[in-house]
Amino acid sequence: MQPTKGIILAGGSGTRLYPITKGISKQLMPIYDKPMVYYPLTTLIQAGIREILIITTPEDSAAFQRLLGDGSQWGLMLHYAVQPRPEGLAQAFLISADFVGDSPVALVLGDNIFDGHGFTAALTQRRETGGTIFAYEVSDPQRYGVVEFAADGRALSIEEKPAQPKSNHAVVGLYFYDNSVLDIAKTIAPSARGELEITAINEEYLRRGQLHVQRMQRGDVWLDTGTIDSMSEAASYVEVLQKRTGAIIGSPEVAAFEAGFITRQALLDLAAPLRKSGYGLYLEAAASDGGVQAPC
Ligand code: TTP
Repeated sequence: MQPTKGIILAGGSGTRLYPITKGISKQLMPIYDKPMVYYPLTTLIQAGIREILIITTPEDSAAFQRLLGDGSQWGLMLHYAVQPRPEGLAQAFLISADFVGDSPVALVLGDNIFDGHGFTAALTQRRETGGTIFAYEVSDPQRYGVVEFAADGRALSIEEKPAQPKSNHAVVGLYFYDNSVLDIAKTIAPSARGELEITAINEEYLRRGQLHVQRMQRGDVWLDTGTIDSMSEAASYVEVLQKRTGAIIGSPEVAAFEAGFITRQALLDLAAPLRKSGYGLYLEAAASDGGVQAPC
């Protein structure tokens, strides 16, 4: 089995954040003390993924490369691709076909934040065949893909932004698929709103009896930061938690250290130039807490 490759989808138009996103990519905006894209990147690292493709708009690609580089500082291999127009989440698997090759693949949306110890642990216990997606209970399911569950917990249906949702369980922006996703993506047609929908991919796995929908647990946190209010709430969440616990959320440096991708000394070296903003102090605290001391 090849190691899973990762994709961060960080294009889109960000119209719900206008006028802010007329001049800057949504995923480069701050969520409290770090750029938004750090959070989904951290999630992929927590899933043990080292080789990652970042898909952006053509205009924003240079800025992402300036921010993240080739990833070697965090023990990663980062690659870049562009999506000329926002034609849907599933297009990620057409753009990334050469990068994915014959590996399994994880896709995370560039504006999604995940937190919680249970959830981080669940990321490394995913299945190797079919698709694994996650559902989270929300109060406004009509904004999302919605999963209907049978009494025994099996997923019965998935609908994209239904007017009459069959449950409150929204599909979150993190998807693990086996390599057949590349072929499935080639067969789906644009929806009525003109997008290649990720829901169409999930429906195909469901039809094949190969879709595993994991419900996120109490204590797990999912934040979608696509609106002004949700961005500001996410920033407050990160600020309060970091100040109260002393542990940083959404840090690729700390996740890479804990995954054994970089050494304690490398983490301390990364911390030094980041001390003035306070970010580096969290890295120093993490270096003294422990982490895996695996060879890198
Ligand atoms: P959305 O929030 O659904 O779309 P958007 O970012 O364009 O924002 P808005 O609705 O305010 O105009 O997208 C979810 C994530 O997926 C976000 O990180 C952007 C990304 N995305 C792409 O990269 N390409 C796409 O074709 C789409 C639809 C989204």
